[in-house]
Amino acid sequence: MNNPDRTTVVILGAGKGGTALLELLTHLPGVAVAGIADQDASAPALSYARQLEIPITQDLLSLIRRPDIHLIVNVTGDPNIDGLVATHKHSETEVLGGAASKVLWDLVQHVSKIQSQLFQTEKLAGMGTFASGIAHDINNPLYILLAFSENILEETDIPVIHERARSIIEAGKRIQGICQNITRYARAAKDVDTTPVNVNAKLDEALKIARYATILQDLSIVRSFDEKVEVLANPNELFQVFVNLMTNAIHAMDGRGTLTLSSCCENGIGKISIADTGCGISTENLEKIFDPFFTTKSPEKGTGLGLHNVREIIKKYRGNLTVESQVGEGTTFIIELPKVSNSM
Ligand SMILES: Nc1ncnc2c1ncn2[C@@H]1O[C@H](COP(=O)(O)OP(=O)(O)OP(=O)(O)O)[C@@H](O)[C@H]1O
Ligand SMILES: [Mg+2]
Repeated sequence: MNNPDRTTVVILGAGKGGTALLELLTHLPGVAVAGIADQDASAPALSYARQLEIPITQDLLSLIRRPDIHLIVNVTGDPNIDGLVATHKHSETEVLGGAASKVLWDLVQHVSKIQSQLFQTEKLAGMGTFASGIAHDINNPLYILLAFSENILEETDIPVIHERARSIIEAGKRIQGICQNITRYARAAKDVDTTPVNVNAKLDEALKIARYATILQDLSIVRSFDEKVEVLANPNELFQVFVNLMTNAIHAMDGRGTLTLSSCCENGIGKISIADTGCGISTENLEKIFDPFFTTKSPEKGTGLGLHNVREIIKKYRGNLTVESQVGEGTTFIIELPKVSNSM
C-alpha cells in the first residue's frame, strides 16, 4: 500500500509544537506520515492530525511495532520511550530520537517562526502595492478635478463654467466609484462583480480621460468599432484598464502618432485592441512590463503599476491580455473577455 519512493514516518509525541512538526512533514512530498501517538489523548497535535486525516492513537507500541515504517520520530522527550522503541521496533526501521530529535524540533520551530514572519511581510508588501494602485487610479480624476476647479476661478462664460462643473462632478463620482470598489474588495476579495458593459462607450469615455492626463499635440485617433460589443466586467475596472493602456500609448508616442482603438466579437469573445505608433518595447522589457513597479519613466511620470493593475483585473475575469510590439514601430495590447450572450 505504501509508495516505495516515499519515506513512511510515524511520530511519537503530540505535545507543544507537534502541530508545526506535522505541518512540516505533511508538506514534504517525499514523506508520508502514517500515524501519530501520544499517551495523552488531549495532546494538541492530535486534533490537528485528525483534521489532516492522519491516524492517531494513544497506544505507542502499536505504532512502534509496525513493520512497514521507515522512520520513527520520537519527540516525547521521555527516556522510557527510547527504551521501548529500541526493544520493539522492526529491525529495518530507523529512529530519530534523543539529541537528533531535539535538533529537528528546534528546526521545526525556527521554520514556523520564519513562515509567520514571511506571511506578515507578504501581507505588508501586498498592501503597499494595493495602496499605490489605488493612488494611481485616483490620480487621473483628481487631476481633472483640480485643473477644472482652477479654470473655473478665471472663467466668466457661464456655459463653459457649467460644462467644467459637470466634468468635476463626473471626476468626483469616478473617485467615489473607486472608493466603493475598494470597500467591496476589502469585504469579499474574491467576489467578481460583473455586469454587461458597452465596450465602445467605455473606450470613448476612457479616451477623454487619457487625453486630459497627457499633453496631446499631433495625435490622430482611429476608432474601428463593431456595432455592439458587450462584455461581462465591472464598468469602473474596465474603465481603468482602458485609461491605463491609452495613457501608456499616448506617452509612448510622445505627442505624435496614431492611436487605434478597435473592438469586435469573435466566437463569444469580446476582443478589444489599443494600438499605438510609439517607441515600442524591447524584447528584454517585454518580459518585465507587467511586474509591479517596473517602469522606464521618471518618478513623476510613472509608478510602474498601470500594467500590473490591468493584468490583475483581466485575470480576475478569466480574460486574456496579450501584447505585440516592435521597437520604433509601435505596440498593440489586445484584451479578450467573455462576451454577453446575444440573447441579453
Ligand atoms: N504602449 C506602450 N509603448 C511603449 N512602452 C510601453 C507601453 N506600455 C507600457 N510600456 C512600458 O511598460 C512600462 C510599464 O508600464 P506601466 O503602465 O505598468 O507603468 P508606467 O506607465 O511606467 O507607470 P504608471 O504606473 O503611471 O502607469 C512603461 O514604463 C513603459 O516602459
Ligand atoms: Mg502606465
